[in-house]
Amino acid sequence: MRSGRMVDIPERSPGSAAAGACGKVLVVDDQKNMRATTAILLRQAGYRVEEAEDGASAIQRLQQDAFDVVLTDLRMPSTDGMELLRAVQRASPETQVIVMTAYGTIESAVEAIRLGAHDFLEKPFKEDEVLVRVAKALEKRRLLCEVNLFADEFRKRYGLEHIVGRSPAMRDVLDRVLRVAPTDATVLISGESGTGKELVARALHVTSRRADRPFVPVNCAAITETLLESELFGHARGAFTGATRARRGLFEEADGGTLFIDEIGETSPGFQARLLRALQEGEIRRVGESSPVQVNVRVIAATNQELRRAVAEKRFREDLFYRLAVVPLRIPPLRERLDDVPLLAAHFLQRFNRRTGGDKVLTAEAAARLMQHDWPGNVRELENALEQAAALCPAREIRADDVQIDVFRLGRPAAEPCVTLAEAVEEAERRAIQAALTRCAQDLGRISRELGISSTTLWRKMKRLGIEVGVHPGPGDAS
Ligand SMILES: Nc1ncnc2c1ncn2[C@@H]1O[C@H](COP(=O)(O)OP(=O)(O)OP(=O)(O)O)[C@@H](O)[C@H]1O
Ligand SMILES: [Mg+2]
Repeated sequence: MRSGRMVDIPERSPGSAAAGACGKVLVVDDQKNMRATTAILLRQAGYRVEEAEDGASAIQRLQQDAFDVVLTDLRMPSTDGMELLRAVQRASPETQVIVMTAYGTIESAVEAIRLGAHDFLEKPFKEDEVLVRVAKALEKRRLLCEVNLFADEFRKRYGLEHIVGRSPAMRDVLDRVLRVAPTDATVLISGESGTGKELVARALHVTSRRADRPFVPVNCAAITETLLESELFGHARGAFTGATRARRGLFEEADGGTLFIDEIGETSPGFQARLLRALQEGEIRRVGESSPVQVNVRVIAATNQELRRAVAEKRFREDLFYRLAVVPLRIPPLRERLDDVPLLAAHFLQRFNRRTGGDKVLTAEAAARLMQHDWPGNVRELENALEQAAALCPAREIRADDVQIDVFRLGRPAAEPCVTLAEAVEEAERRAIQAALTRCAQDLGRISRELGISSTTLWRKMKRLGIEVGVHPGPGDAS
């Protein structure tokens, strides 16, 4: 992952080309007509415009002058748009680059966005489309120069005000969010439980061009597989017992918007094959129906598993993995960004105060103590700890001892080596299932009812944990 380009931008950049009323734009294209028409259009809109016929002469122009926006073709002889993009980032990181691509070469545009381009335009484009995109790029350029990226105004504008964090790790995440949001690229968000995956998925949506269309979340671990299929793809009337009416699935609900598929690692190979087909073909089939329905949906998936390992262990389809992880986004665990802890704590406390009309504050030593914890439950654990402390502490000041952070460690003595939360959860699940197997005489139906999960989920979990029916330790061994 590149260290975030926006991170090092000074609060006020002297000599900014954006200081004037209208911005300065460099139009780069080897096709003379295209270049000239675009330049005229922008001049008429009041921009100061210069032209360059290829990447090399554009780089020369950039060394002589400051530009707010560079509008460049991607495919050009010798120095192409990608090389120019890299050169702009080195020479003038706050200059916004918009790449123009020919119809059908969208992959290269996505690649450019991954490298840090602000936006892309697909040729042929309409006049007002260019104007809108350039104006947006210019606005971002201005905000970058005038305010810190993490100032409130900027965050609000880009729908990021709910995401608290200034650590380099979080800035990197936000930087990537801003860069991939305008593309339709599929994003795979990974991170431990409670790190903020859903929050980031929502930010991707509100920052994207689909913001005024629905954001539809679905949690694959929460429902049985059959139900999940009909939830996502919909079903025909009479497709199964109880299907008295035809129903649209969430894919159709999300049309034009974003479908957030959470806990994707929990799905079965059969379901994965079906999802892959839907993504590849851009169309779905309702359960029990043969004619396809076209859908235009951006998919964001999330997982708290190491999906690469699941692929290696053949629990997850490799082709689907690559289809989903066009842009991988890893949310670091809270222990890797402890400098965000006091900010987050203050944020949760503020929210508590707003809700209850209170004025609780956290003492400095309490904040310091919070930074010594390793937060296996991540931001959610911190959120709960703060809420609890605020609710229970009778005084206005919340001291270190008021915050309960000795999370339950599954009965392990504190001196034992640390396990990850995922390992701890697996261990707890294994014990619960093994105990239930003994208690319920291996009756899987009874066990799933007792454990409050579907039999499919039980079966999937047992497979993952390597528990076989009939081969399991007795209660004495399990503990
Ligand atoms: N950077 C952050 N700023 C503010 N709140 C946050 C941040 N990260 C997480 N939270 C809060 O922590 C809680 C957990 O976040 P979220 O549900 O997005 O995590 P998750 O990674 O999807 O977790 P899980 O894997 O358990 O589903 C939410 O209440 C969310 O609002
Ligand atoms: Mg979640």
